[in-house]
Order: sequence, then C-alpha cells, then structure tokens
Amino acid sequence: MGRVEGRVAIVTGAAQGLGATYARALAAEGAKVVIADRDSGAAVVEEIRAAGGEAIDVPTDVREEAATLEMVAKAVEAFGKLDIMVNNAAIFTAVERKGFDEISVDEWDLMHAVNVRGTWLCCRAAVAEMRKQQYGKIINISTSRIFQGVPFFLHYDSTKGAVLAITRSLCKEVGDDGIRVNCIAPGSTMSENVRKRTNWKGSGAAAQLANRMIKREQLPDDLVGAVLFLSSAESDFVTGQTMLIDGGVSTH
Ligand SMILES: NC(=O)c1ccc[n+]([C@@H]2O[C@H](COP(=O)([O-])OP(=O)(O)OC[C@H]3O[C@@H](n4cnc5c(N)ncnc54)[C@H](O)[C@@H]3O)[C@@H](O)[C@H]2O)c1
Repeated sequence: MGRVEGRVAIVTGAAQGLGATYARALAAEGAKVVIADRDSGAAVVEEIRAAGGEAIDVPTDVREEAATLEMVAKAVEAFGKLDIMVNNAAIFTAVERKGFDEISVDEWDLMHAVNVRGTWLCCRAAVAEMRKQQYGKIINISTSRIFQGVPFFLHYDSTKGAVLAITRSLCKEVGDDGIRVNCIAPGSTMSENVRKRTNWKGSGAAAQLANRMIKREQLPDDLVGAVLFLSSAESDFVTGQTMLIDGGVSTH
C-alpha cells in the first residue's frame, strides 16, 4: 500500500519542473493527481498513466479566483474529494534577477499575483472542500533564500516570505477542521528550467554549493521525501511548520 493510497491531490505548476516531480511521486504512492498549471500538463498525465497511476490535466491560472474554484470542482468531479493541495505554481525561472530599484511595478505586481494571491486563492478553494471531510493537507512552497537574505531577486523573495507567513497564520484558522498547513523551503534545485537559466547574477547554484554542508547539486528528488511526509498520515500532528531542504545552507 502506498503512503498516500486513495488520496486525491492537486499539484499546481506541475506541467514541468519540481511540480511534475511531486505529482509523479504522489501518484507512485497511490494518490490520484490533478495537474493544475497554466501550461498543458498532458505529458505529465501521460507519464503517470503509463506508470499505472491516475491523473488528469486541469489547465489553471492560479491568479484567477474562478479558475481555482473550477480546479477544485474538477478534482472532486473526477475523483470524489480533495485531500492534498500542493501550492507549487510560481513565477520563478521565467524572471530575470535584477537590483531592487530596477524591478518595474508591473513585474512586482505580476510576481505577487501568482505567488502570493495564487497561493491564497488555492488555499481558499481547497479548504472549502477539505472542510466537508474535516481533513486535509496543504503544502506551500517557499524558498530557503528567505532565511539567508540573497540580493537581486527581491520581487520573488518577498512573495516567498509571504508564503511562509500564510502557512503560519492559516494553520491557526483551519486546525479545528482537521486541515494541516505546512511549507517546504527548497534550496537551489536543478529543475529543468533552473538548468537552462543563465542569469544567476551570483546568487544561485554556485554560491549555494559553496555554502552547502552536503556538497553536491540539489536535485528534484531531494524534495520528494518531504512532500510525501507532509501529504501522508505520517505528519498528521504536524502543522504550521516549514521544512528547510537545502543541504544545510540555512538553519531556522
Ligand atoms: N528550483 C529551485 O531552485 C527552487 C528553489 C526554491 C523554491 N522553488 C519553488 O519551487 C516551485 C517550482 O520551481 P521550478 O524550478 O519547477 O520552477 P518552474 O519555473 O520551472 O515551474 C513553475 C511552474 O509554475 C507554472 N506557473 C507559472 N505561473 C502560473 C500560473 N499563473 N498559474 C498556474 N501555473 C503557473 C509554470 O507554468 C511552471 O510549470 C516554485 O514555487 C519555485 O518558486 C524552486
């Protein structure tokens, strides 16, 4: 029996990258998975089905309230309930690093609309469904950068600080409904788009490697254990917490 056998999970931003890794891992451990990305998740759905798992693609823009409500409605229509909500979608690899005074107001607002408003809207839509069964697991995705103070990505880092704050505050509002809200803060992880990116401006992989206690690249699979733990009944007495997974660069 898988660690999340029979559970229903939505993973946002799972058409590629770390989200796709989480979706595959949840499916391999028995969850029925909804891929909710603004890009098509058809390829990831195919992979999961080919491996014997269950998944559907529900194209979703997490900035839009109606889209997040529809995302949850489609999960319930297909699989009957919602147990796990992984808020992984973000504007991350698509955006250039730059000084705080070079960021435009539009760039700032877009980043916050996806990473903060999107996380909140997905939590809101998921909680409404999870309350019906008085049980649920929400996993938000922050970054280890916010524990270090790293220059040249202030629009992004501010959103991920907000994600941690959402985790800590929301867990206090939904604990009585049996809903656990936790967070994962990864270090610089070699998702396919991170590998492609060239504009690190000194704040990325090489710098992190030098400060890492475990001196190797951080890989997407390094995050899977935390996602499965926080998704499964193994963590039913854990809420409001942030698991920092960066090979020991940061502590908190
Ligand atoms: N890879 C890393 O080094 C690292 C480190 C810390 C945190 N993270 C976080 O992990 C997550 C995934 O990282 P990644 O490396 O796979 O990034 P990525 O940029 O490759 O993936 C982000 C995904 O989010 C989707 N997305 C963007 N805007 C969306 C929207 N409005 N609605 C729905 N989906 C949307 C994209 O289509 C994409 O599939 C992000 O939250 C990122 O901030 C990554």
